Amino acid sequence: MAIKVITLNNPPVNALSFAYSAKLLEEVQAAESDPAVDTVVFTGANGLFSAGADVNDFATEPDPDAKNVRHVIAAVERGKKVYIAAIDGNCMGGGLELSLACDYRVATERSKLGLPEIKLGLLPGAGGTQRLPRLVGAQDALQMMLKGETVKAPDALKKGLIDAVVPSFGDDIAKSVMSAVTGDAKRRVSAKKVSLQGLPANAVPFVIAQAHKMCPPEENGGFAAHKLVDAVQAAFELPFERGLAREARLFEELVRSQPSLALRHIFFAERELSKIPNLPPAQASDVKKAGVVGGGTMGAGIAITFANAGIPVTVIEPNAEQIEKARQMVFGMFMYQVQKGRLTQEEAWKRGQSIVFTDDYSELADADVVIEAVFENMDVKKEVFKKLDAIVKPEGILASNTSTLDIDEMAAVTKRPEKFVGLHFFAPANIMKLLEIVHGKDTSPETLATSFKLGKALRKVAVLSGNAFGFIGNRMLFDYAREAVGLAEEGVPPYRIDAAMKNFGFAMGPFAMFDLSGIDVFWHIQQARPDMGAGRTKIVDRLYEQKRLGQKTGKGFYKYDPSVGKGREAIRDEDVEALFREVAAEAGIAQHADVADEEIVRRLTHALIDAGADLLEKKVALRPGDIDIVYIFGYGFPPHHGGPMWYGHETGYKDVYSNQAKEKELVHA
Ligand code: NAI
Repeated sequence: MAIKVITLNNPPVNALSFAYSAKLLEEVQAAESDPAVDTVVFTGANGLFSAGADVNDFATEPDPDAKNVRHVIAAVERGKKVYIAAIDGNCMGGGLELSLACDYRVATERSKLGLPEIKLGLLPGAGGTQRLPRLVGAQDALQMMLKGETVKAPDALKKGLIDAVVPSFGDDIAKSVMSAVTGDAKRRVSAKKVSLQGLPANAVPFVIAQAHKMCPPEENGGFAAHKLVDAVQAAFELPFERGLAREARLFEELVRSQPSLALRHIFFAERELSKIPNLPPAQASDVKKAGVVGGGTMGAGIAITFANAGIPVTVIEPNAEQIEKARQMVFGMFMYQVQKGRLTQEEAWKRGQSIVFTDDYSELADADVVIEAVFENMDVKKEVFKKLDAIVKPEGILASNTSTLDIDEMAAVTKRPEKFVGLHFFAPANIMKLLEIVHGKDTSPETLATSFKLGKALRKVAVLSGNAFGFIGNRMLFDYAREAVGLAEEGVPPYRIDAAMKNFGFAMGPFAMFDLSGIDVFWHIQQARPDMGAGRTKIVDRLYEQKRLGQKTGKGFYKYDPSVGKGREAIRDEDVEALFREVAAEAGIAQHADVADEEIVRRLTHALIDAGADLLEKKVALRPGDIDIVYIFGYGFPPHHGGPMWYGHETGYKDVYSNQAKEKELVHA
């Protein structure tokens, strides 16, 4: 008897689009009607099994005759042949659901499997919620699907998700797979009952209730998660076919839901980021050696980011004490990763060794890129760039991590303004995903292309910004801060404003965030740019004078007690509320504390949306989606609201998306 190999081959990621599913269905039908074939092996081309459904298809109105992966899976389920999934590389979403419908799953060691639909506000809608619990038990299935986490092949074997792991498939995939599976009886997952992994059968309501408890509130990022649990409940309570029907109905509900639309918007916006309209084609270079000037908070974090990406980095720091502090910080960070089991001792050591601290600028002569992260002072920065320009090889890129200062003014002290760019990391630089790439008026296409390539190598989400005060994120933050402080000046206590924003989905309220960043940061900005200052009163000055600088001094907009939450827990401070009343009275601001939570959210989100619209108008930001990404990845805007601009569009406040087609260009503000 013959084995038929069906290779999923739909570059680049073998997406199981409607069109491709129709083709696969024909192949399955052909195998079924061929009496010579007794076994069908699915495998994937292009270095993976499949990344799953095509996200673009979700947005289209389904054609009643269109075929999708559910039809392929149904044909496999009904089929008379033995089906085997031979998995090499990523096997995600619909790809894994197809494998679950097979009789056997064999994977190579390097493979990763997962059902990440929840990340797009969806649930696995091609049988995953019914088959996975039957295969690995309810708890493991819920854990995998609710977190959308991927499982490596050896762990997948332990969970019972796959039947065998092989080092590789070699040249003869059919032979390799057949020798890995034992027995030839058909073993359809659908015929099993959901296992409770050691719990008695009457524990089902308990398991389901626990799963709901694991999910965020339905209205605050948990909409899809609760529906997913409902689908798994159906796997317990209904016959297989009816469970599938329930899953399909819940999936349809989610596809049309606001949170999923928002999350899919982010998914696509992220893929747009590096497409720069009107940018002449340019060759991106690899960064093989990097330099950082300044071994402070940011410099050390940036150095770790390079080390994590396998790029050796030299940090210039004149202050010996600071070098010691930075070394401790780097060491502590890698040790923490080892303790958490995320790094081996050996790897941590290797990464630590790839960061060199010195006060000798000449060590940077052969660096491909040097990022300046010294004090936020134009004169200090200019001195640094003059030195760097004289030392770093002519083709090396010079970059500044400044939060607010003018990139062009710095570039002007060098003889290579075309190789000058802003690379604005966010604190902590080794953790925060956002990177703003700031183009100056002379920055060349090659420098931008290399910066984007570097951003990718550093595993950052890189967004292009014009050279305007505060770039995209901080400019919006200033307007947000002004509105938040403005509300408090009108008599709404900071703790209430924070609670309303947390309820909206922000990880942290604005005042807790100001306390974390330091009130001094806002005070300094206010000195440099009074028009960007927070509030209409003297509140920031007063806090600054009273050394209420935030968490670091134990007092800011809140008070902190070292014995409560390690001194990081914000405690309401009525002294600050009294101070707000005092400065408001001086400025003649009327008090109305009875502002509803919805009004707080409305005022703060509208401040962000207005600022974003202004940045688009001035062409500092290229696309509304770029702004959404900045605010989600850099400032904790709730992803299920899609970012401020998406939210403005969805709630009918400002429709910046309808202007998307407007010609885009690079403009310097
Ligand atoms: P920091 O004060 O922690 O570190 C600055 C370091 O630069 C100090 O260690 C200092 O000794 C060193 N330094 C000063 N002059 C130098 C010189 N001529 N050559 C070499 N090293 C020199 O400051 P931080 O927070 O790391 O900020 C650095 C830059 O990053 C600033 O431009 C800041 O605006 C920007 N930034 C800061 C963020 C933050 O949250 N802290 C976030 C994003 C950007």
